[in-house]
Amino acid sequence: METELRERHAPWGTFPWPEWPDMFLERLAAEDFSDATVLDLGTGEGRLALYLAPRATRVVGIDTDEVALDSARRLARERGLSNVNFFAANADEANYRLLVRSPIDYVVASYFMSEEAIANAAKGVRSGGKFLFACHHPDNWIESGRVGRFSFGEGRMEVLLTANGFRVEFLGVDRLVVVYENLDALAAAHPALHEKFRGDGRWSVLSERDRDGPVDLTWATLVGVALRP
Ligand SMILES: C[S@@+](CC[C@H](N)C(=O)[O-])C[C@H]1O[C@@H](n2cnc3c(N)ncnc32)[C@H](O)[C@@H]1O
Repeated sequence: METELRERHAPWGTFPWPEWPDMFLERLAAEDFSDATVLDLGTGEGRLALYLAPRATRVVGIDTDEVALDSARRLARERGLSNVNFFAANADEANYRLLVRSPIDYVVASYFMSEEAIANAAKGVRSGGKFLFACHHPDNWIESGRVGRFSFGEGRMEVLLTANGFRVEFLGVDRLVVVYENLDALAAAHPALHEKFRGDGRWSVLSERDRDGPVDLTWATLVGVALRP
């Protein structure tokens, strides 16, 4: 299986920050969700579930974070979406079929991924259904000196999908290398990320660079589509 690789370099401020990489949006656009029941793993505040609800028959979002789920429910009400439900459930442990109670056409995930969830998706999705996801790639924020715990490379992902009985239809890596004027500009652009990096020591790795010089930060996403035969 050939992995599609896409990379773009751009100075911060010269492009609109995308909701998702184009590669993921293209894969979503290529699917017909109109008659579909969709399960969104690690839905958080429901970003992907709420994006798909107007396009699908029914969407269920699950997450372990009750506060995030409340926000997702509020957003669904505000947008008048009555075909989306949010449940507290652990995607690593839940039986997806029991949760959804009707055949699942798509299991989707946006920046949530685990080996257990891949196995559960394979058991949960109907035959002929698909697992469609975007997750962090090991190159994500690689300049900070650490590979994210929840990141998956294309080789490992292909092995996991295949081992769980999926047929891989697409794997791609979308790399956006953003050039910031300096570290302060990076901190101002992504305050939450700045806070996170300060808390876990990654900011000091980045700070070893010239504080006033330009800084690169790579945003790398693995996108995949896998069919359950
Ligand atoms: C980076 S956020 C992504 C949220 C959302 N999918 C999005 O793209 O905006 C990861 C989410 O996964 C959730 N999560 C982490 N472990 C989980 C688990 N075992 N089961 C369900 N949700 C989980 C977190 O609570 C968080 O909301």
